[in-house]
Amino acid sequence: METSEILNKFSPDHKNMLGILHALQDNNPNNYLNEEDIGAIARYLNTTLSHVYGVATYYTMFSLKPRGKYIIRACNSPVCNMIGSVSIIEELKKVLKIEVGETTDDRMFTLELTECLGQCDIAPVMMINKEIYGNLDAEKIKTIIENLKNK
Ligand code: FES
Repeated sequence: METSEILNKFSPDHKNMLGILHALQDNNPNNYLNEEDIGAIARYLNTTLSHVYGVATYYTMFSLKPRGKYIIRACNSPVCNMIGSVSIIEELKKVLKIEVGETTDDRMFTLELTECLGQCDIAPVMMINKEIYGNLDAEKIKTIIENLKNK
């Protein structure tokens, strides 16, 4: 979808900044906000580039660099930490052969950490795009990643 079509779904009001950022990021096949997006938002909302950059960099759900088709967000908050998220994160790094913050060479997966996902009862937890996966262990991680690779 064209950027202008997306912008026109919102009234040009600053309170719509987050919604617009989400919509443009979701529209990008590489799951990020590029310079053109930031410029278009600034013009549409009649604000400065630095203001839009400030908002986009404040929230961890936005990225200014290309990411994978699947954004994996592993919970790194206390409850998940107590129930083994550190080894889950290590397993993800091993299976994907990347570090936190990196994207696989085939642009399939990006690994990120997140604060509590509100699913502590099924800790340790991760979210892949908009789907939650809980009660994770090394075997489950391998299966989930394999299934996504074969989709
Ligand atoms: S601490 Fe991980 S989901 Fe709450």
